[in-house]
Amino acid sequence: MKTNISLLPYHTFGAKVNADFFTTFSNKEELKTILQQKPKDQNFIILGGGSNILFTQDFHGMIIKNEIKGFEVVHEDENNVTVKIGAGENWHDTVMKTVSNGWQGIENLALIPGTVGASPIQNIGAYGVEVKDVLQRVEFYHFEKGETFEYTNQECQFGYRNSIFKNALKGKIAVLSITIQLNKQWNFNTSYGAIEEEIKTQGIETLTPLDLANVIIKIRESKLPDPKKIGNCGSFFKNPVLPKKEALSIIEKFPEAPHYIVNEETIKIPAGWLIQTAGWKGKSLGNVGTYPKQALVLVNNGGATGEEAWALALQIQKDVKTQFGISIEPEVNII
Ligand code: FAD
Ligand code: EPU
Repeated sequence: MKTNISLLPYHTFGAKVNADFFTTFSNKEELKTILQQKPKDQNFIILGGGSNILFTQDFHGMIIKNEIKGFEVVHEDENNVTVKIGAGENWHDTVMKTVSNGWQGIENLALIPGTVGASPIQNIGAYGVEVKDVLQRVEFYHFEKGETFEYTNQECQFGYRNSIFKNALKGKIAVLSITIQLNKQWNFNTSYGAIEEEIKTQGIETLTPLDLANVIIKIRESKLPDPKKIGNCGSFFKNPVLPKKEALSIIEKFPEAPHYIVNEETIKIPAGWLIQTAGWKGKSLGNVGTYPKQALVLVNNGGATGEEAWALALQIQKDVKTQFGISIEPEVNII
């Protein structure tokens, strides 16, 4: 165990913060020992790759980093492959491993930073696909009950950037593994945004899972900052899902507003567009700004504190509320 450690290498926003205690685990038994040995009243969090977390201050407690490895084919037939993956595996490496085997299902989720274990927490999604679309089971350890559970897809109560792990089980469990089902008979989703265009640009005639992953990587690299170069935590806010009437009144006032019909009652309006229209695109407050190519991403312009990022987030939230009457909620976990 390490004490008074800098968290700079362990999260992607690049805030200069320390944790009182820091340790890692590679299997459930190690995690149980850590939890038994630590003082009962000591605060702790399970950390993955730190790509969806903003530390606004030093962390007075224990950071417990998940390093459970593993990639096991548990079932295979002519149509499908079922794979069980350790929670500490890198998500993007996992995507590349599956597509390189010719297995289709998570290629649209290429280049999302972080770990496999965090993927069901907010039900990661991109380019028309969410992890819930392939997820069969989530295995987790419940701290208070001292037991391991395995939830089915339905039991995880997945929604847009949401699951039971962000609600009733928030802070109460550690994901140990996930089991996903992938396809050998390909069924691609290329409907989102610039995908078809990029496929044409690249001159791809017969699309493979690896091709589509590379197309997604190309699109993402053109829009999103690389956290290794510019500190950020991806989309800072969730896209608001609005009652139809409310959304239509905004669209009437701003006919250019991009929007997506979610169902008969609700419409999603991109938070990036709301933030841009509120005048914040490419603007900064102190050492934190919004990314000039994507206003939904808050970036560390160098030496920013988490507190500064949170101050900008609150200002943006206030301005969007004043201009549109819409409350945008953080997607990032604020600590
Ligand atoms: P962390 O940031 O370490 O943790 C996130 C939360 O999950 C914390 O509350 C933590 O306590 C909890 N947690 C982590 N691991 C476990 C575990 N094993 N058990 C229990 N709780 C755990 N997200 C998307 O959905 N789509 C995108 O397209 C996308 N693009 C991004 C692009 C960039 C450049 C960046 C920086 C982020 C992006 N994200 C995106 C957000 C982020 O990558 C995902 O949310 C990712 O799943 C976070 O993984 P992590 O391991 O880094 O989680
Ligand atoms: N837009 C603007 N201005 C901006 C940014 C976006 O007008 O500054 C408009 C775009 O023109 C487009 C629409 O908003 O019409 C949507 O933009 P984009 O396709 O870039 O996606 P997004 O809604 O901003 C979401 C996810 C991303 C995910 C992409 C691709 C959320 C909160 N974010 O972003 O996820 O990668 O779609 O599917 O749902 C993340 O969660 O961290 C993340 C990066």
